[in-house]
Amino acid sequence: MEYKKPKGTRDILPNNYAVWQLMEAKAKDVAGRFNYAQIRTPTFEDASLFLRSVGDSSDIVNKEMYIFKDRGDRVMALRPEGTAGVVRAVVENGLLNEALPLKLFYFANCFRYENPQAGRYRELSQFGVECFGTQSPNADVELILLGKSFLESIGIKNTTLQINSIGCKTCRAKYNQAMRDFAKENNNQLCPDCKRRAEQNPLRMLDCKNTDCQKILQNAPKLKDYLCDECNQHFAEVLKGLDTLGVEYEIVDTLVRGLDYYTKTVFEFENEVDGKKMAVGGGGRYDDLVAEISGKSCPALGFACGLDRLESLVDKNLIQNKPLALIVNAGQVSTAQVLPIAQKIRNLGYNVECNLAERSFSAQMKYANKINADFVFIVGDEEIQNGTITIKNLKTGEQTTKKL
Ligand code: HAM
Repeated sequence: MEYKKPKGTRDILPNNYAVWQLMEAKAKDVAGRFNYAQIRTPTFEDASLFLRSVGDSSDIVNKEMYIFKDRGDRVMALRPEGTAGVVRAVVENGLLNEALPLKLFYFANCFRYENPQAGRYRELSQFGVECFGTQSPNADVELILLGKSFLESIGIKNTTLQINSIGCKTCRAKYNQAMRDFAKENNNQLCPDCKRRAEQNPLRMLDCKNTDCQKILQNAPKLKDYLCDECNQHFAEVLKGLDTLGVEYEIVDTLVRGLDYYTKTVFEFENEVDGKKMAVGGGGRYDDLVAEISGKSCPALGFACGLDRLESLVDKNLIQNKPLALIVNAGQVSTAQVLPIAQKIRNLGYNVECNLAERSFSAQMKYANKINADFVFIVGDEEIQNGTITIKNLKTGEQTTKKL
């Protein structure tokens, strides 16, 4: 049998890994500059954690979750996203009793049983950040700035920031009622998914991809007409903060996001990936989620970027490789003899490869070109006798002899 990777998954091969190392290094650097600390949570959790947080009306929970019973008959799920696990960990470990706001970032592989296509995988990698313990609109502004700074740090241009406010529980209850009434009036024209959404979570109807529904929904009640004073003011302050920082945005009043836990600000970063516009990151506030999971109320907000979607957009010129040197042993000198020299050169900051395949001198020189080495360090009988090393710069052809 010839094994193939599971449908919708990817192999990230060594020739492309420098891009991933750059994304991860820049993400850590930028998160650090905003004083976010790293956290790692399990790849799987109790399935009910996601039902309660991501929401049983979301496509992610409804259609896309990898659920399984473990050998102890517990119903577990591979995480479809990173936020729920972080919230669970923060509560379980009592981190909300420490200094607030608590600011955390993570890298997480997530699993969604989606129809695989460009930019849509069944195992995806996210860089995410979560901030707990503040209601301030300035936190929303800073969060968006963090996302933008990360995208800029990897050389990504032409990102559009789309933003909206979906209000709090109070204003959304009124809006949901208005949407249910609208759905009743147009019931026979809506797709089966929208009929279900009208019952479970009418807000999600705005996200329907069915073109007929989209046409009908153009006349649906507008969320912005239902926001309470506090939500209106919060949104206005977020926009004002972005203006002050010169962060450009587009208000999209149908932007509701695919997860049920959001309140107030929601946003997405959009780019063209392989000729198709898609979200490379998204997030928002989720002021009620901590209480829903733990009973203890704590406002929070965050976002996550999809690293698989960013991969092809990264500016490869930002990748800085250490120089690569091959230590070539010549004459009677064995590979074993040059291992200590190789170690010295590694300590000087070079990436170093030795003659582990025990090739002849000329084959080693050919191999140096094949692996695109910057230097060869030659150690032959003469060099051993004189305590020297011959260094050849393969990019310029220049050759020098130095004392070891
Ligand atoms: P999300 O919008 O579901 O949000 O995912 C975040 C990002 O992950 C998307 O913008 C996209 O770039 C990437 N992504 C999503 N699905 C796929 C897929 N099937 N294949 C490749 N990339 C994908 C969340 O997950 C929230 N937890 C974000 C958040 C954090 N909100 C608050 N805190």
